[in-house]
Amino acid sequence: MSVKSDFQSGLLVMAAVLITSSAAGQIADAPDDSVAGIPVNYTEAEIGDYNLPDPLICRDGQVVDNPEIWSGKRRPEICALFEQVQFGHAPPGPEPIRYQVFDSGTSAFDGKAKRTQVTIYFSKDANEPGMDLLYYIPADAGKPVPVLLYIAFTANSMVVDDPGIRQGFIWNREHKKVPADNGRRFDQLNVPAVLARGFGVATVYYGDIEPDFQEGAALGVRNLLAKPENGSPYAGPWGAIAAWSWGLSRCLDYFERDGDVDAGRVAIMGISRLGKTVLWAGALDPRFALIIPVCSGESGAALSRRNYGETIAHITAPARYHYWFVPGYQEYADKVDLLPVDSHMLLAMLAPRPVLLVTGNTDKWSDPYGEFLAALAAGPVYRLLGKEGLNTDKMPPAGVPVLNDIGFYMHDGGHGLVPSDWDVILDFLVKHLQPEN
Ligand code: GCU
Repeated sequence: MSVKSDFQSGLLVMAAVLITSSAAGQIADAPDDSVAGIPVNYTEAEIGDYNLPDPLICRDGQVVDNPEIWSGKRRPEICALFEQVQFGHAPPGPEPIRYQVFDSGTSAFDGKAKRTQVTIYFSKDANEPGMDLLYYIPADAGKPVPVLLYIAFTANSMVVDDPGIRQGFIWNREHKKVPADNGRRFDQLNVPAVLARGFGVATVYYGDIEPDFQEGAALGVRNLLAKPENGSPYAGPWGAIAAWSWGLSRCLDYFERDGDVDAGRVAIMGISRLGKTVLWAGALDPRFALIIPVCSGESGAALSRRNYGETIAHITAPARYHYWFVPGYQEYADKVDLLPVDSHMLLAMLAPRPVLLVTGNTDKWSDPYGEFLAALAAGPVYRLLGKEGLNTDKMPPAGVPVLNDIGFYMHDGGHGLVPSDWDVILDFLVKHLQPEN
């Protein structure tokens, strides 16, 4: 049965109207480019029409008109589709996992913070690599606090300016793990600023979970968990993004044992490919309380069906990032209309939890307007669950945040975080996770 819903016709019309009004006014068209030999479109009028799958209609045509059908049927169905076509199916966490706390509650930042460092091992074998989790709690907390967990491009010792952090190791361009003494990228956490708002803050290096190159699977958790002695059945192909997301859930496992952290209020944040990672981690693991993907772009929060900036064809091109996904994802490069999901459904899977999309008005490759449209299209699911969507169909100008349960903020600038994002991020965290309670 084919059901053409208001949702679908509404979005088509919406796309056409908004293109000529808000988006075009804020993000100017630009000449085509080419990446991996594939042209990149930066002209709104060239995008063409597309139909988004309706998040509130099940595959068998049943309309989702109450929260029970959503959580009992449609949400699991969407989750299975994402596992099947995009990210793959991660095995459950190994039991029991090993933790080695090597720095516990040490005073830091002029006595304002308590610092803890722990290695989380993914297998029973301590010779296998582990992941170093670093976190700070306000020294005067007195009760479990909510925490912002940041997944970083580099080792903890490079992310926070604190001489007490054990020097980590990072993967270099030659695919060797070397001491982390250079390579700072987008990453710097202003720990005192986060603590001052009543939150703890934690960071973990994604390369500790699995290195980010095509042969990386052999050196990270995907290979480790494939070993029968690790007790986690290898459930089929899963991509690097699923592996990094899996690692975030293991951090949360640890926080659930830690009396300083309110494990029911752990937010996750990541930039770019790690923005995609926090989206998938949040979708899969409902224990994460709030999700902040920054410039997550294609195969993150930006609609794949919009031919603007990066597309599935670009991201899965052989010399680029196909290993982030299941092998079959590549097949949608030239038939995106057949993709049974799109990014609005990834956002919908986060409902009713708060999500803040941070984008940049000159980061055209990541298609900020495509992220806005996805957020808009996830709105009906949030509303079904009694939450607030964007409450506007006009993309706010750069610098003007929307901090509803679905939040959107476009900074004036490009790819990654800019310093002023922090005020918005902290306001969003405080509004939704209420550290004073
Ligand atoms: C590339 C890639 C993006 C990704 C980004 C990043 O630009 O094409 O999809 O988000 O790298 O992670 O920095």
